[in-house]
Amino acid sequence: MNVRKAVIPVAGLGTRFLPASKAIPKEMLTIVDRPTIQYIVEEVVASGIEQIIFITSAGKSAIENHFDYDFALDHVLHEKKKTRLAEEINHIANLIDIVSVRQKKPMGLGHAIWMARKVVGDEPFAVLLGDDLVLSEQPCLKQMINLYNEVQESVVAIQRVSEEETCQYGIVEGREHSPRVHRVERMVEKPAPGTTRSDMAIIGRYILDPDIFDILGKTTPGHGGEIQLTDALLALANRRGMYAYEFEGTRFDAGDKLGYLKAILAFALRHPDICENFSDHIKEVAQSL
Ligand code: G1P
Repeated sequence: MNVRKAVIPVAGLGTRFLPASKAIPKEMLTIVDRPTIQYIVEEVVASGIEQIIFITSAGKSAIENHFDYDFALDHVLHEKKKTRLAEEINHIANLIDIVSVRQKKPMGLGHAIWMARKVVGDEPFAVLLGDDLVLSEQPCLKQMINLYNEVQESVVAIQRVSEEETCQYGIVEGREHSPRVHRVERMVEKPAPGTTRSDMAIIGRYILDPDIFDILGKTTPGHGGEIQLTDALLALANRRGMYAYEFEGTRFDAGDKLGYLKAILAFALRHPDICENFSDHIKEVAQSL
């Protein structure tokens, strides 16, 4: 079965970005000229997905508005003969079909995904976390869909991290299946230092069998008292099998201050309008250090 739907949880409070995220959703913070969430949506579209399901919460309507058609803005831009800009703005509204579901209480990532069960139904689907931006030749999600089509089981994206960093991620233990692909044997959310030998960290890209909904419905609170997706993933791996995939590309944790700045730098150096001047500026700054 084809992967046609993508769930993007955007209900989180964004505490790591306060005070910037007090009155605007952290997903709307800008990287060069577009909000971080637009990069995620563009990756989804470029991967051939047909529908996005946002899991939202109070205060997140700016995200829905960003992907909506703005009649007044379109009118003003046309009056001012800014046709190219109007086309670009309208293009965002026409990117993909979007559905929103409200998560009424912050009960964890697992619970947020479970909220999508009625809209997703009985088919495999993708999950993308808004904090994780990936720069790659082929979209990260597309790489994962290619693997899913081959193995027909759930796939999680992973990257290698240092021993000190394992406690910040869901960690996968497994055995190599083929280059870049591992069969998942165990998973643990944010393991205490010294409790795992694996350096394979889950990043925010998943393709999941719909059995995950049944499992999530029975998952009890785990790390941090929240319903953890990772706990349900382990149950799914035991029930049906699961693969961990070392994607090709660079991932940025845009939910972290330093990671966000690194993402801005990387995306700005690839932006056709500013890359040359920006690169000259960085060289000047580096020389003055
Ligand atoms: C979430 C997941 C974790 C994963 C991480 C990737 O954690 O729970 O398993 O490794 O995203 O960014 P969070 O960063 O939301 O605490």
